[in-house]
Amino acid sequence: MAKKSKYVKESYVTMTELVLPNDTNTLNNLMGGRLMHWMDIVSAIAAQKHSNRIVVTASVDNVSFGKPIQLGNVVTLRAQVTRSFSSSMEVRIDVVAEDIPNSKKFESNSAYFTFVAVDQSGRPIDVPEAIPETDQEKEYFAGALRRRQLRLVLAGRMKPNDAAELKSLFNFDPTS
Ligand SMILES: CC(C)(COP(=O)(O)OP(=O)(O)OC[C@H]1O[C@@H](n2cnc3c(N)ncnc32)[C@H](O)[C@@H]1OP(=O)(O)O)[C@@H](O)C(=O)NCCC(=O)NCCS
Repeated sequence: MAKKSKYVKESYVTMTELVLPNDTNTLNNLMGGRLMHWMDIVSAIAAQKHSNRIVVTASVDNVSFGKPIQLGNVVTLRAQVTRSFSSSMEVRIDVVAEDIPNSKKFESNSAYFTFVAVDQSGRPIDVPEAIPETDQEKEYFAGALRRRQLRLVLAGRMKPNDAAELKSLFNFDPTS
């Protein structure tokens, strides 16, 4: 039976939060852990929308914070499934912070989270294929296989020699 498919755009989620005192550190900046909590929620919703299943976070790629987000800023998180595999889905999250009274806005950070759809017993279950339509969706889709191989190699779940897409990126020849 052919695998079901869904458009990437069907997974789009936007979440908006106001940074309140309880979200900040002693410098009045948003705590990284709070931002990651919001990123986890928005990306889990995107993965649920794609799979119509319960999903669990399997891994979080490199997340870095270049510029602090301040008390009173409004944080907008956008998430979308970039590509699905058998039971797993890669989700991209883009975070924008806004100082509305001063009309200032900046891109805070982006990250990729991986979710696995599971049944009621927590066993991985197949998800629909993700169909990209826009140029940007196609770009994220194309890079997803390379990122998957890198994270599985780092997690010790794939042998570097089996990561064909990664090797082609580095022109790596294991025989030389
Ligand atoms: C994620 C989980 C369901 C995977 O279960 P598993 O028995 O290892 O299942 P499998 O080996 O069959 O892998 C299932 C999928 O998970 C993916 N996966 C497993 N570990 C991964 C990791 N570290 N990074 C990315 N993907 C991972 C596999 O690549 C596979 O994807 P595919 O089906 O699309 O090929 C299981 O490890 C789990 O329940 N983890 C806890 C999840 C959780 O509690 N999250 C919240 C953290 S506080």
